[in-house]
Amino acid sequence: MDALPSSPLGWVCTGVTVLFGVTMLCMAKRSLAEKVNLLLWSLLPPLLGLLCVDMLGAAGGLGVFCTLSLVSCVYLGGRALLPVGDKAVLITGSDTGIGHALAKYLDKLGFVVFAGVLDKDGPGAEELRRTCSRRLSLLQMDITNTTQVKEAYLQVSEKVQNTGLWGVVNNAGILGFPADGELLPMSTYRRCMEVNFFGAVEVSKTFLPLLRKSRGRLVNVSSMAGGIPLPRYAAYGASKAALSMFSGVMRQELSKWGIKVAAIHPSGFRTGIQGTSELWDKQEKELVENLPADTRQDYGEDYLLGLKTCLLHMPTYCAADLSPVLSAILHALLAKRPHGLYTPGKGAYLTLCIFCYFPLWFYDFFMSKMLSTDSVPRALRTSEAESKKP
Ligand SMILES: NC(=O)c1ccc[n+]([C@@H]2O[C@H](COP(=O)([O-])OP(=O)(O)OC[C@H]3O[C@@H](n4cnc5c(N)ncnc54)[C@H](OP(=O)(O)O)[C@@H]3O)[C@@H](O)[C@H]2O)c1
Ligand SMILES: *[C@@H]1O[C@H](CO)[C@@H](O)[C@H](O)[C@H]1NC(C)=O
Ligand SMILES: *[C@@H]1O[C@H](CO)[C@@H](O)[C@H](O)[C@H]1NC(C)=O
Repeated sequence: MDALPSSPLGWVCTGVTVLFGVTMLCMAKRSLAEKVNLLLWSLLPPLLGLLCVDMLGAAGGLGVFCTLSLVSCVYLGGRALLPVGDKAVLITGSDTGIGHALAKYLDKLGFVVFAGVLDKDGPGAEELRRTCSRRLSLLQMDITNTTQVKEAYLQVSEKVQNTGLWGVVNNAGILGFPADGELLPMSTYRRCMEVNFFGAVEVSKTFLPLLRKSRGRLVNVSSMAGGIPLPRYAAYGASKAALSMFSGVMRQELSKWGIKVAAIHPSGFRTGIQGTSELWDKQEKELVENLPADTRQDYGEDYLLGLKTCLLHMPTYCAADLSPVLSAILHALLAKRPHGLYTPGKGAYLTLCIFCYFPLWFYDFFMSKMLSTDSVPRALRTSEAESKKP
């Protein structure tokens, strides 16, 4: 078979394909990787079709060509982003971390940003006030405080009367002190549920009337820990699992209103969530004080004090560049067909795959190897040592 199309039809198809590819390439304003990906998707299917024109003859080949071109158009159409225009987006927890970076990022892109903050006089709010455009409004919004959520709703609905609210990003969240579930105080479980679950539910319920008007987007920043079991994250993981399930049900229920719901499960980004050593000292003290004497005895002082070291090491293997999370959230807000789940961050996808496609015992084994630490509770250490004695 020669490299060039042998029939006039082949030439027409080649022309259409090249035109299509060049158009797609000009439309992509992004990175090189993005351009290559786009080029592959826009050119490969029609080129395959073209080959078929040569091999199957005009009628069969033309059928394959059209089908494959249609597939790539549909795929690329789904990737297309809606214009920013004057879309308004509410973000909770914009004091630090992902929420803070997202507020700046969306402001720069031209969105009308409502940045909910836990402390309107804090340094995070101050920074947003200083660096962002006049479009951005700061809202005092502790998501566990019904009064503040209601007040924020009144402010937002007054400002967006004509245009509506396009998106709500439920980002605010807390980690709590990571420790064995047996050791965590009830207050940690309650606090995690309060912020990560009830807070997000209240925000969503309050703002849904505005979203229904705009047929907009609801985006939840949940966590991998809410989808798969991770040691030491019993309280945090359970609260995020509740949020993820809520999100899933909302996705089903809200589609009839034209609202699209997406969940983001970031993993391993360096933000305020890793806390400070003063905060961990305080939480460690609370944990130790609430333990029954024999539990404390069994785990041993050095095991308990060692819990903190994994937190202190966390920032070293967390990524400082938040842009993968920001692009995922932007896609969830603007893509014509957003995905239900985004997993930005290294390792997140692999772990999820192992959990989904392998037997549970293998997943548990994998995690125990991945997260193995030197620390062993005292009671186990001594019995191990004893069993080694002849
Ligand atoms: N970083 C990661 O790798 C990672 C991984 C998985 C999931 N996530 C999720 O991503 C989201 C953002 O976390 P982040 O990493 O950006 O952490 P972050 O820097 O701690 O951001 C969370 C923000 O929420 C605020 N907040 C806490 N309680 C609140 C409340 N009751 N009302 C309103 N705001 C409240 C915090 O304010 P203060 O700073 O004043 O406390 C903080 O600004 C969280 O939902 C988290 O679970 C992050
Ligand atoms: C909730 O917010 C209101 C208004 O800012 C404040 O007066 C009240 O003390 C807060 N309630 C709690 C429980 O923090
Ligand atoms: C979280 O996300 C889901 C969709 O992902 C959304 O329907 C829900 O309202 C959001 N809030 C909570 C608390 O789940």
